[in-house]
Amino acid sequence: MFSYDDFGAFPPEQIAYAKAVSDRLFDIYKHKPLAYIVTYGCQQNVSDSERIKGILEFLGYGFTDSPDNADFVLFNTCAVREHAEDRVYGNVGAIKKLKKSNPDMLLCVCGCMAQQEKNAQRFKSSFPYVDIVFGTQVSYRLPEFIYRRLTTGKRVFELSLDNGDIVEDIPVRRDGKIRGWLPIMYGCNNFCTYCIVPYVRGRERSRSPESILREAKEMVNAGFKEITLLGQNVNSYGKGSPYGVNFAQLLKMINGIDGDFRIRFMTSHPKDCTSQLLDAMAECEKVERHLHLPFQSGSDRILKLMNRHYDRETYLKLIDYARKRMPDIAFTSDIIVGFPGETYEDFKQTVSLVERVKFASLFTFIFSPRNGTPASNMEDSISREEKGKWFSQLLEVQDRISKEYSISLVGKTVRVLCEEKSTKEGFLIGKSSGTASVEFQADDTYIGKFADVHIDEYTNVLKGTLIK
Ligand code: SAH
Ligand code: SF4
Ligand code: F3S
Repeated sequence: MFSYDDFGAFPPEQIAYAKAVSDRLFDIYKHKPLAYIVTYGCQQNVSDSERIKGILEFLGYGFTDSPDNADFVLFNTCAVREHAEDRVYGNVGAIKKLKKSNPDMLLCVCGCMAQQEKNAQRFKSSFPYVDIVFGTQVSYRLPEFIYRRLTTGKRVFELSLDNGDIVEDIPVRRDGKIRGWLPIMYGCNNFCTYCIVPYVRGRERSRSPESILREAKEMVNAGFKEITLLGQNVNSYGKGSPYGVNFAQLLKMINGIDGDFRIRFMTSHPKDCTSQLLDAMAECEKVERHLHLPFQSGSDRILKLMNRHYDRETYLKLIDYARKRMPDIAFTSDIIVGFPGETYEDFKQTVSLVERVKFASLFTFIFSPRNGTPASNMEDSISREEKGKWFSQLLEVQDRISKEYSISLVGKTVRVLCEEKSTKEGFLIGKSSGTASVEFQADDTYIGKFADVHIDEYTNVLKGTLIK
């Protein structure tokens, strides 16, 4: 089952650990062991989990959708807001009972929340049935961690965050077959004052253009129709790297790959969003007409306190330039409501920016103080209740704008990627070049193909007719 060829840069010692684990698994479980993986947080985590699954498959694990029959349970966690952390403690706790009936089950916690010392400590002292805890930069060492746990009986805690070289050629088991994630850089150097990500993901590190292009080609050859380039900060790709390729150039290189596929990317930071990048988007026929560009707040005073390095006017200029180059482009964004010191006047600036840009959709969050970030020590006098009211007000405004956006598409013909069956028999759901989902009548053979769809009406969902 093992071949020592074809693993490129995947570390040989991990391959040796993998072989040693693989040899023991059947003796322990007497059947093909099954893994149950739960992923919280952003697409970066989803993508990391796909590599973790790739490694587990390589070790000889199969997969299950339920913890009840699992021999290996892993929680890949997120620390970006408090709510996310609370859920993890509850769900990890619930596995204790299952471990009683399957004592050989391994329980593993990794990702951004595990990376924080205080959480790792809590797993160590209050959750003795957690076997392995590891951080965001060492997941490629999973074969070693499992080997150590199985052979020494000691629990494993590995949190090193040394910002070393990116490990390439990690096996990957992608969740989908049509749309796939392709990480191009890891970490973040921006230190927005509210955000935990730079502390738990470490410094920005870019993959080489060669590795990215190789993986993109593999995905296209495997039949993927949409590749989303991923990074906390995709558009600062290449900075501080020896490769001499920036994000706009990388986009063009990927656009040059032969094949019928399209490209998305996320997340872009406005301070690194250059006109060169918007020009590249406009020139690349495979790049979708969608830009996710979080602005966080419409108030310059709050943007300064957030350490965002752009102002309202610069942001709006970028939007206007992008629209000029790509009239049909759809924008989405992230917003934080109730940042410390934010007044109702500041909040109204956020609402007015939302009204002005007319985003297709928004991801809105109420500020959640994160231990260790500067904003968690800033004076915050607005009550949670008041912030909740502002939040609902913003949602109402965006609801109306999202509807207007959908209605504006009625009568147009859009090219969609047919993704899946709709709940309605004989109908499919496809996604436009922007962000719209359309339902239309077509048989299953269209799944995974591009098609032109005329949009007929909007009744909470867009409904259309297949043209070809
Ligand atoms: N790197 C991306 C995404 C970071 S996390 C970016 O820079 O846009 C995704 C979103 O979560 C952020 O854009 C922000 O809107 C939100 N967020 C991050 N920290 C937060 C906090 N402490 N409280 C509330 N929302 C937060
Ligand atoms: Fe967090 Fe800011 Fe980095 Fe995004 S750019 S991950 S919000 S610090
Ligand atoms: Fe959460 Fe980590 Fe992503 S904190 S949002 S999973 S980078």
